[in-house]
Amino acid sequence: MAKNKTRYICQECGYVSASYLGRCPNCGAWNSFIEETTTPTQAAAQPRVTTTGSKIQPQKLTDVTIEKENRIKTQLGELNRVLGGGVVPGSLILIGGDPGIGKSTLLLQVSGQLAQTGGKVLYVSGEESASQIKMRAGRLTVADSGMYLYPETDMPSIQAAIDDLQPDYVVIDSVQTMNVPDMNSAVGSVSQIREVTAELMRIAKANQITIFIVGHVTKDGSIAGPKTLEHMVDTVLYFEGDMHHTYRILRSVKNRFGSTNEIGIFEMHQNGLEEVANPSEIFLEERLAGATGSAVVVSMEGTRPILVEIQALISPTMYGNAKRTSSGLDHNRVSLIMAVLEKRANLMLQNQDAYLKATGGVKLDEPAIDLAMAVAIASSYRDQEILPTDAFVGEIGLTGEVRRVNRIEDRIKEAAKLGFKRIFVPKNNLNGFNPPDKIEVIGVTSVGEALHKVFN
Ligand SMILES: Nc1ncnc2c1ncn2[C@@H]1O[C@H](COP(=O)(O)OP(=O)(O)OP(=O)(O)O)[C@@H](O)[C@H]1O
Ligand SMILES: [Mg+2]
Ligand SMILES: [Zn+2]
Repeated sequence: MAKNKTRYICQECGYVSASYLGRCPNCGAWNSFIEETTTPTQAAAQPRVTTTGSKIQPQKLTDVTIEKENRIKTQLGELNRVLGGGVVPGSLILIGGDPGIGKSTLLLQVSGQLAQTGGKVLYVSGEESASQIKMRAGRLTVADSGMYLYPETDMPSIQAAIDDLQPDYVVIDSVQTMNVPDMNSAVGSVSQIREVTAELMRIAKANQITIFIVGHVTKDGSIAGPKTLEHMVDTVLYFEGDMHHTYRILRSVKNRFGSTNEIGIFEMHQNGLEEVANPSEIFLEERLAGATGSAVVVSMEGTRPILVEIQALISPTMYGNAKRTSSGLDHNRVSLIMAVLEKRANLMLQNQDAYLKATGGVKLDEPAIDLAMAVAIASSYRDQEILPTDAFVGEIGLTGEVRRVNRIEDRIKEAAKLGFKRIFVPKNNLNGFNPPDKIEVIGVTSVGEALHKVFN
C-alpha cells in the first residue's frame, strides 16, 4: 500500500506547497491553500491512442496524412463562427461563464439541435435533476429524441454510461461538481478538476466523442481551477454578458481549430438563446440623438466589423484627485488618450473626472477605437454634440497623430450599410482606395485636425 502524502494546493493557481501557507507565493491569493492527500496511484503505463483507437507510433512527417477536417455545423451560426466553422469531432470544449449567465441553456439548446440532426447526446448534470433539465428543455422547446439525461457526478459511472451508450456528444455540467473517487481531495478542488478533465480528455480522444465541459468562473473572471485546465482542452470559450442586458457574448480565448478573435452574439429570451444576426443595429439601438459625449466606432471583432457607441462623461473634479473610470474599455488607454488630448489638443482635462463606457456590454480592446474615444471625450468636455451620422476609426499616437488601422474597407462598408453619412479615418489608410459613394470618407492626420473637422 502506497503511503499517503499530504500537500497543500493553491486553489487559484494550482501552486503546490509541502506546508500550509497563508498567501500564495505564486499568484498572491490569500487563504487559497487547501490540504489534499494523494495516494500515488500505480497507474499502468497506458499507451496513447489515436482518435481511432490504434496505438501511436513515431512516423515521418512526410508520411503523415492529413485527415479531412470534418466539422459539424450546429444550427447556431454564431457558435459555429466562434468554434472556427463548426464542432470538430473528438474535441474537448470548455465553456466558462458567470453563474446564471446561460451556460446550461446554451448547451441544452445545442444538444437538442445535435440530437435532432442524428447525433446521440449524453447530457450529464451534477447540478440539476433530470426533471429540472426536462423543464428547461420544455421551455426552450428542445426536441428530445436522441438525447439522454444523466444526473451523476461520479466519474466511473459516467465512464460506464459512455461505454454503454456510445454517444457522439457528451455535455458535462459542470466540471466542478464531478468526482473521481480514488482521490482524497474534495470535489471542486484543483486536483479533482484536473483529474476529471484529464479523464474526459482521454475519453474524448479514444472514442472520438466531442465533449462540452461547463466551468464556473471565479470572482476575477477566470475559470475556477488553475490555468492548466485551459491548457488541457482544445477550445476555451467564455460566455459573458451583462446580467442586466439580454445580450450574451460568446468569446473564444483558445482554439486549436480556429482563430480566437471571433465572437458570437446572442440574445437571451424566455424560450432560449437567439442569435443576433446584425449586432451593430443592437448596439446602436438606444442611442440618444443630440446627446453630447457619444461617438460611434467601427470595431473589428474577429473578421466582423461591429459598430459600437462609446460614451464619455467629463465633469469637474469636486475634491481630491481626478477620477478615471471606464467600463468595456481599457483603463490605461483612457488615461493615455486624455493625456494626449491635454497636451496636443489643448483640452484642460487634468481637473476633470472622466467616465467612459462602451455600450451594450461589449469589451473593446483594439487601438482603432482611440479616435472615437477622443472625440467623445472632447464632445462631453466642450458640451458640443457630434452629428449622429458620424463614425470614427483610428489609432492615436503619443504625438497626437492618427495612425493607420487594419481592414479599413470592411469598416467603412459596415458604417455605410448602417446609414452613416460620414466616417473619419486615418489619412494614411486612404492611399489607393476607392470609398463607396454612399458615405463621405474624411481622412485626418492628427487628433487636433479631427476635432476641428468634427466640431466646425
Ligand atoms: N423563465 C425564464 N424566462 C426567461 N429567461 C429565463 C427564464 N428562466 C431562466 N432564464 C434565463 O436563464 C438564465 C439561467 O440560465 P442557465 O441556468 O443556463 O445559466 P447557467 O450559466 O447554467 O447558470 P449556473 O451557473 O447556475 O449553472 C437566467 O439568468 C435567465 O437569464
Ligand atoms: Mg447551469
Ligand atoms: Zn496561487
